[in-house]
Amino acid sequence: MPLVNAKEMLTKAKEGHYAVGQFNINNLEWTKSILLTAQEMNSPVILGVSEGAGKYMCGYKTVVGMVNGMLEELKITVPVALHLDHGSYEGAKACIAAGFSSVMFDGSHYPIDENIEKTKELVAICNEKGLSIEAEVGSIGGEEDGVVGAGECADPNECKMIADLGVTMLAAGIGNIHGKYPANWAGLSFETLAAVQEKTGTMPLVLHGGTGIPADMIKKAISLGVSKINVNTECQLAFQEATRKYIEEGKDLQGKGFDPRKLLAPGAEAIKACVREKIELFGSANKA
Ligand code: 13P
Repeated sequence: MPLVNAKEMLTKAKEGHYAVGQFNINNLEWTKSILLTAQEMNSPVILGVSEGAGKYMCGYKTVVGMVNGMLEELKITVPVALHLDHGSYEGAKACIAAGFSSVMFDGSHYPIDENIEKTKELVAICNEKGLSIEAEVGSIGGEEDGVVGAGECADPNECKMIADLGVTMLAAGIGNIHGKYPANWAGLSFETLAAVQEKTGTMPLVLHGGTGIPADMIKKAISLGVSKINVNTECQLAFQEATRKYIEEGKDLQGKGFDPRKLLAPGAEAIKACVREKIELFGSANKA
């Protein structure tokens, strides 16, 4: 099936009280592992691409070519959206032109009026071209591609203003952080989430920083209106751990263990296991 935008899968998720996973991709192995696992579990899936990862993979056109090729050659039939993660205004436009099916415009670091202005323009372009669009209010903590957010809680009134622009989904900061959570993390602010949900009604809400959030908090967040959950670091850690084990066990030194197809295989399998676990937890298995 060709790429789809994220609107229908998220509307269904919101109605069905589950969440669709956005798993960020970094290269061919990542993409293949995520697509095969979503297919195996009959789950819709969103492939996230940060601007940094897009550059690393030789640009957005390369990413679109690789993903479209895999959808066809791997005979993927579940709904797949290719989504720019934390895009700048220019980045969003470049991804729209390159053939992405969904973009996030992260204007959370702008004053609210400017965030509204830029989001509004991009909503009009995405509507015209049939893409879904995610906007953000209240920055997500931690560091991603050099952008450091303090993990603030979004203002529910500002969330309503952005939701009313006609975005497909809304990321609201609720104390979540990208990367590993520190030991003294205060947890998600369900109070903020409930207030945002109350103001934005049926708008699918997005939870960033999915790595390391305890299962009970994930379930509660879904029950309060979260329909999309982003996971990046956890797949990276799973890949790193499996690759380290392979090398430490000296397997790269045995026979043709140096062959990248062998060397990267345990990491690719570890990504699959991570994605499988998240799809189970988010409740999107068999919802394709
Ligand atoms: P983690 O790296 O913490 O899983 O966050 C991913 C994310 O939110 C991407 O936007």
